[in-house]
Amino acid sequence: MAKILIIDDEKAIRKTLNEILTFEGYKVEEALDGEEGWKLFCEKNFDVVLCDIKMPKMDGMEFLSKATEYNPDTPIIIISGHGNIEAAVDAVKKGAFDFISKPPDLNRMLITIRNATDRNSLIKETRTLKNKANKVPEMIGTSEGINKIKTTIDKVAETDARVLVTGENGVGKELVAKWIHAKSNRAHKPLIEVNCAAIPQELIESELFGHEKGSFTSAVKQHLGKFEQADGGTLFLDEVGDMSLSSQAKVLRALQEGKIQRVGGEKEISVDVRVIAATNKDLLKEVEEKNFRLDLYHRLSVILIHTPSLNERREDIPLLVEKFLEDIAKDYGQPTKKINKDALKALQEHDWRGNIRELRNVVERLIILAGPAIKLEDIHNYVIIK
Ligand SMILES: Nc1ncnc2c1ncn2[C@@H]1O[C@H](COP(=O)(O)OP(=O)(O)OP(=O)(O)O)[C@@H](O)[C@H]1O
Ligand SMILES: [Mg+2]
Repeated sequence: MAKILIIDDEKAIRKTLNEILTFEGYKVEEALDGEEGWKLFCEKNFDVVLCDIKMPKMDGMEFLSKATEYNPDTPIIIISGHGNIEAAVDAVKKGAFDFISKPPDLNRMLITIRNATDRNSLIKETRTLKNKANKVPEMIGTSEGINKIKTTIDKVAETDARVLVTGENGVGKELVAKWIHAKSNRAHKPLIEVNCAAIPQELIESELFGHEKGSFTSAVKQHLGKFEQADGGTLFLDEVGDMSLSSQAKVLRALQEGKIQRVGGEKEISVDVRVIAATNKDLLKEVEEKNFRLDLYHRLSVILIHTPSLNERREDIPLLVEKFLEDIAKDYGQPTKKINKDALKALQEHDWRGNIRELRNVVERLIILAGPAIKLEDIHNYVIIK
């Protein structure tokens, strides 16, 4: 049940409010003045505070300004006497949730309190969802390869140096990019991803640089390109090896000049973007075969991070399996499954061509299909099918 703090120097008011709210099922605490209220507010977590304006020691306005600074989420409802409606209105402007006048109209007061607790739970819910959505998954592993990557990420994150992340499918290239952004000074700005392989070549220019209304048949509205969306943040050019030569020329220009031009637009727009690129191709080989521009390669690869394949760091497999067993069970709302030693050993010896993504899928499959403890037999039945 929601916890309410009543701060009022009038004993009769405190008593009446306390009785009503307790009857309604709220947990109520009382404070005799602003100073005592402030102490309780800092010590405990309240869902709503009801606060009088005129009180000795610390008045309601001072309490409000301290409390909203300390914890802006807790709604504060001002109780105002006849003489200070104006002050109450002022309080709402300064961040109070609402005010009720003395003597309180019961229905109105209960509705105001319910609205305040509803808002509070919405704020909390949104925050957990946001945290969940924004949180970068941990990079699991203690192998030399992973440690080297983690050290490099720490060193380069705070700089604006461009990074080229290479490695096979599913090794964690995107995860590396996310960590570099998360640890950089740009973390409060967006990380914008462009999958260069997935966008049709004729649209890539408008995707990257945006377009003005009417610049081509389907351009019915002005459109902000990824470079502009990423302004102040990071642009992640995924599968950069699949970009056409003509797009490469335009990206090169944007990187050289720090300016872009929207399709169909006249003016040059400055953008402040840090670029991280990733590819599973051998870009130097692509350069040799004239599929990739050497000058763009050099622009992108100030820092090179090669992500080793899972087969090159099998010692990380037990930790990864343990982590995936936990995470996936949590997603399904199930208890975590155990895995037998010989089953784990078989996974460690398997040829992982799809790398970590494949391992994660296999663990998910085992959670769904195997019994409460995963045995070697399950690996033969569901993973290494001969
Ligand atoms: N070291 C790691 N610890 C835990 N999970 C990881 C690790 N590396 C990668 N993963 C997970 O494996 C999956 C694949 O990683 P990611 O998408 O970063 O790979 P990728 O190299 O970009 O793949 P692709 O080449 O297919 O684009 C993701 O779910 C990612 O969170
Ligand atoms: Mg990827």
